[in-house]
Amino acid sequence: MWSELPLFPEQASSVAGRVDLLYFFLVAVAGIFSVLIFSLVFFFAIRYRRRPGNMAAARIHGSTVLEVLWTVIPLGLTMVMFGWGSLLFLRNARTPPGSFEIYVVAKQWMWKIQHPEGLREINELHVPTGMPVRLVMTSEDVIHSFYVPAFRVKQDVLPGRYTSMWFQPTRAGKYHLFCAEYCGNQHSAMGGWVYVMEPAEYEKWLSGGSTGESMATTGQGLFERLGCSSCHRSEGGGRGPSLEGLLGKKVQLDSGQAVVADESYIRESILNPRAKIVGGYQPLMPTFQGQVSEEQLLQLVAYLKSLKKAERSTTQ
Ligand code: CUA
Repeated sequence: MWSELPLFPEQASSVAGRVDLLYFFLVAVAGIFSVLIFSLVFFFAIRYRRRPGNMAAARIHGSTVLEVLWTVIPLGLTMVMFGWGSLLFLRNARTPPGSFEIYVVAKQWMWKIQHPEGLREINELHVPTGMPVRLVMTSEDVIHSFYVPAFRVKQDVLPGRYTSMWFQPTRAGKYHLFCAEYCGNQHSAMGGWVYVMEPAEYEKWLSGGSTGESMATTGQGLFERLGCSSCHRSEGGGRGPSLEGLLGKKVQLDSGQAVVADESYIRESILNPRAKIVGGYQPLMPTFQGQVSEEQLLQLVAYLKSLKKAERSTTQ
């Protein structure tokens, strides 16, 4: 409906309509009060202008009704803005279950995308309609920001950690992707396109360009080549803990703390193994800083995730 207005980008995700609705509400409130205030200023200026018989204004010493009205009405309106905005924010912050993941590595000045199936693309992202997509993102250098106006989503991409965001595309098409954080002299050129395809078409695209090796398989190769498998044995009893079914689980640390093993935990444990030692194990693991790229780290994460699925199917 709004896409006909040149002011607004297309709505192409499940949250776009909700974001716009809130935006229109804010604009409407601001607009109504601006018009009201300006009209009253002019109306009063004319109505109560100085003229013979009305040279000085009458003094009014307070009005409880007025005081209450202009406190309660703005309070109510701002609370609606706060509540509505918070609900929308929380809704967008929580990734819905069943979303599939795509991995993004930003660098000056490009977006490098890896699909779990092994396909890679640069400055282009292909996704199907009707399914929530979660992006796991990191940067090789400075802060960037992944922004797709048609989806009404934006998330900073930071070096040294993972951030994520999700969206569910609703309409097939080609949408602009921007970097929304100043990241150097080519910042304005750091963009690309998101291609939203019907699921069948997406499957075709996926099988057409696949290298035949999934991210998890590449990660497994890396896991063995780097020697991780010699200590992290799947059956346990190694010098390091078994990593089967690790992702998403709570890990009891040496320090007595417990942490959830998410993507960031895996990343930290590879690059800075002494930061969090699993209870009952010695701090023997060497750092792999400088030996694995951001993309390879994500492949290792994808491999560990695949172990989670394997373990689930055997224990249930
Ligand atoms: Cu990357 Cu601006």
